[in-house]
Amino acid sequence: MPPAAKYPLAVRQSPTFDTNAVPDETWIRDKTIVITGGASGFGEGFFRKWAADGATVVIGDINTQRGDQLVREVKKETGNPDLHSFYCDVTDWQSQVQFFKDAINVSPHGGIDTVVANAGIVDAAPTIETPRGLDALNPPPPNLAVLDVNLKGVLYTSHLALFYLAKNPQSAPADPDCDPAKTFRDRHLLLMSSMAGIAPIPHQTLYATSKHAVVGLYRNLRCSSFLHGVRTNLICPYFMDTPLFTTTARALLAGGSMGNAEDVVEAATRFVADPRVVGRAVVVGPKLKVEQDSDGQWSLVDDQEKRGEEKAIWEVYAHDFEDTEIFTRRIVGILNRAMEMKGWSGWLKDMFAAFKYGMGWST
Ligand SMILES: NC(=O)c1ccc[n+]([C@@H]2O[C@H](COP(=O)([O-])OP(=O)(O)OC[C@H]3O[C@@H](n4cnc5c(N)ncnc54)[C@H](O)[C@@H]3O)[C@@H](O)[C@H]2O)c1
Repeated sequence: MPPAAKYPLAVRQSPTFDTNAVPDETWIRDKTIVITGGASGFGEGFFRKWAADGATVVIGDINTQRGDQLVREVKKETGNPDLHSFYCDVTDWQSQVQFFKDAINVSPHGGIDTVVANAGIVDAAPTIETPRGLDALNPPPPNLAVLDVNLKGVLYTSHLALFYLAKNPQSAPADPDCDPAKTFRDRHLLLMSSMAGIAPIPHQTLYATSKHAVVGLYRNLRCSSFLHGVRTNLICPYFMDTPLFTTTARALLAGGSMGNAEDVVEAATRFVADPRVVGRAVVVGPKLKVEQDSDGQWSLVDDQEKRGEEKAIWEVYAHDFEDTEIFTRRIVGILNRAMEMKGWSGWLKDMFAAFKYGMGWST
């Protein structure tokens, strides 16, 4: 394969960025940031951090009691008056439309700079692996609530985000070469997937399916959201200490490593603050001491006396158009070559054939 162009035509992606660099928090100030599921866990962490950084932060959650309490508390702590909580059920289209309108109404500049599609649930009683009543005459369908929140809800949020971000007044369209110190207002969609979006989680099949779908959404939007001037980025957290992580899950992970929500907040802050970061994805895991060899391979430092680097944020799927598995590379390469060989005359012939098909003239 020839080396990929710096910014491949189809995929608007900035070069690798330093995941450990501390973001300049002044780049967050004055942005209007919308977070679904912002009343707890990561959403609450984002809210607290960006409120302290001086942004207008608007959370939409079904738990308005917790959301309102959080707003009161953080307003007092930070003195930031531009903090808001609204009811939003991400599974309900009208509820999300109203939430976006509410956010625009309270935004000091009348627009939205970043949307974080964060709301999510786990499958409390997994039904795919343990079908109940299969020997009954009328077996019940599985409960797909997880897909409603984690997939349909995220698709609704992304659809509205692309619509409203494109209309963000005085905002700069996504540009990996922009000067971040001068690009205060931009258009950014941050998607929340999971490690379960890139690896299986036994007995959380619906959850993992929904999170794989969010990775698919990210990979597609990365090719098209720039048409609206929107940069799309993705976070895939590992098991993290939030209320989502149930007692059973904690027991199953016993002896393993659990990460800290603060590292997810740090990764998200990096994405929100820096408008040069376009089309990148990170996994956030527990902070571990690691070292890199001369081939670029990372390994765990098991002797605490040894030098190493504390690392929780890792780039993932960052170069998937170059690094995809061999079959995909081969077939995409062959298809691209076939298209080149057909050239413009082939394109014209196909366009004419499509026109004939549309007119019902094809035989
Ligand atoms: N905690 C983890 O280990 C972990 C790991 C990977 C990915 N994630 C993902 O991160 C995101 C946030 O999870 P968290 O750990 O902060 O969970 P959390 O349970 O602490 O917070 C989720 C929030 O979403 C809200 N919510 C649920 N259903 C909603 C709906 N229909 N409409 C609006 N809001 C709704 C909840 O009220 C809650 O405030 C989720 O998408 C989750 O799948 C979490």
